[in-house]
Amino acid sequence: MDGVMNTVVISCAIAVVLCAWQLVNTLWVRPKKLEKYLRNQGFNGNKYRFFSGDMKELSMMFQEARSKPISLDDDDGVLQRVVAFPFHSLQKYGKNYITWFGWKPRVTIMDPDLIKDVFTKLNDFPKPRSNPMARLIATGLVTYEGDQWAKHRKLINPAFHMEKLKNMVPAFHLSGSKMLDKWEKLVSSKGSSEVDVWPDLQALTSDVISRTAFGSNYEEGIQIFELLKEQSLLTMEALQSLYIPGFRFVPTKRNMKMNAIDKKVQHSIRGIINNKIKAMKTGEGNNGDLLGMMLESNSKEVEEHQNKNHGMTIEEVIEECKVFYFAGQETTSSLLVWTMVLLSKHQEWQSRAREEVLNVLGDKKMDLDGLNHLKVVNMIFHEVLRLYPPVSGLARKVDKEVTLGGFSLPSGTQIGIPIMLMHYDEENWGSDAKKFNPDRFSEGISKATKNQVIYLPFGWGPRICVGQNFALIEAKIALAMILKRFSWELSPSYVHAPHTVLTLQPQKTMDTVTNTVAISCALAVVLCAWQVVNILWVKPKKLEKYLRNQGFNGNKYRFLYGDMKSVGIVSMY
Ligand code: HEM
Repeated sequence: MDGVMNTVVISCAIAVVLCAWQLVNTLWVRPKKLEKYLRNQGFNGNKYRFFSGDMKELSMMFQEARSKPISLDDDDGVLQRVVAFPFHSLQKYGKNYITWFGWKPRVTIMDPDLIKDVFTKLNDFPKPRSNPMARLIATGLVTYEGDQWAKHRKLINPAFHMEKLKNMVPAFHLSGSKMLDKWEKLVSSKGSSEVDVWPDLQALTSDVISRTAFGSNYEEGIQIFELLKEQSLLTMEALQSLYIPGFRFVPTKRNMKMNAIDKKVQHSIRGIINNKIKAMKTGEGNNGDLLGMMLESNSKEVEEHQNKNHGMTIEEVIEECKVFYFAGQETTSSLLVWTMVLLSKHQEWQSRAREEVLNVLGDKKMDLDGLNHLKVVNMIFHEVLRLYPPVSGLARKVDKEVTLGGFSLPSGTQIGIPIMLMHYDEENWGSDAKKFNPDRFSEGISKATKNQVIYLPFGWGPRICVGQNFALIEAKIALAMILKRFSWELSPSYVHAPHTVLTLQPQKTMDTVTNTVAISCALAVVLCAWQVVNILWVKPKKLEKYLRNQGFNGNKYRFLYGDMKSVGIVSMY
């Protein structure tokens, strides 16, 4: 008996020692080894601190930055506020630096050629695993790797082709009208009004996604996305605290609520999908919405290979619907809100954009062809995405030792790509890097970047944002509609406080107001003035050129009267 007891005690002791060693190895020995290895290759950064690494400093800087707003004229202020710790590390340690996320090291790189390598070699540099609590809100294309990612990307890509997006223009327009009608009502009684545009822009992009993702099931879509919004708030709450493995299965009040929401969402989307599949079998159903197109390309793939494994399961399609919402909603409203802020500050660009919209689109129905001719608006969006990228940084990881340029990166290292720091770097953009200057994009992105991988608002390489054209068309339509009907400036009470909650957004309520000239007046004046100029100058000059090109000669067109004065004189005699 004693013998058995001894064996049990000795086994327990060995197990405890082994566990303790694992712990010491994970939390101390390995990080210190990695630190030495990375430092020897030229990566600088804080010394590894047991367990928490840089997390305390990072969180303190984050809180400090959030505690006070900045001036809209403070060029460095934006970096200090939005990416406080990376900005501080860049200044202290240079462009290749280490940050300790607990006991895991992340090396940040800013060399465009190395960034290109990281984004291109998908197998060497996969995405880090997201927190299990966050996986409840959506998995799908954004999180998949390897063959599963390739399969889904191939099946989803066709839904975002320009040909397909063309048919969504009316849906974008309808959602925009809903927002603008609300603004018009707000100002019509007083002539001008303070409008908190951020919640309205969020509602706009939600509305757009519901309409374009689910088509005729738009109302149900709205309800699903309301639930997803609630789910993301609960997730954000859960992410505030350290995650203990398995905690998501503990029946706490929050976990139960999150599971209930998840069940409801799954149930509703499944219902819509089943109805769509039934309708598609009878030749109806795909009305040009994202879900219909995804199901169509899925069934084509299954038919082509005569094998279900080549397509997506219903569960996977459900996840992709959720991804469209999370990846596409706040990102696009972020682009629109910072565009409105920057065009308030740079009124000359607001006027140039309006002039272009009125010139190119006039009163015509919006279509893709017209939108493609909005060059100034395009330049403005590129510049806003450079200075206020909705996603301020990306990460990848190394699972087995790899070389990257001259570096050898050991397994367990993460790689940080600091989008925002890249966008503000004078080496990349010249001495006016921090200034708003859309003209730098006058000859397109390749010219502005000299074909270097330095501009990354939508990521880069095979995993570049699948929805970038969708987002830019949506934003163009919304901005064109706003410009046609309103002029605006910042409210005296506006506080400039950009911060990141998944995307870059205004921290305090952001009040963008119309000019002292009433919105409705602005609307009338802008449209009437345009009509007058168009009828009395632009159109006659166009006609003149057209007719002269065909050999018709005659007096030059003279404003308003044309030849009427001379006609009058001749007839008098
Ligand atoms: C201004 C708006 C947007 C911005 C700035 C943006 C930004 C990004 C970025 C930076 C990535 C790359 C992530 C990475 O490589 O780790 C990405 C990926 C993605 N985005 Fe967007 N996005 C926008 C709009 C949209 C829209 C409207 C949709 C869909 C309706 C969408 C769907 C996706 C998806 C599915 C991915 C994953 C692609 C893949 O991994 O293959 N995004 N986006």
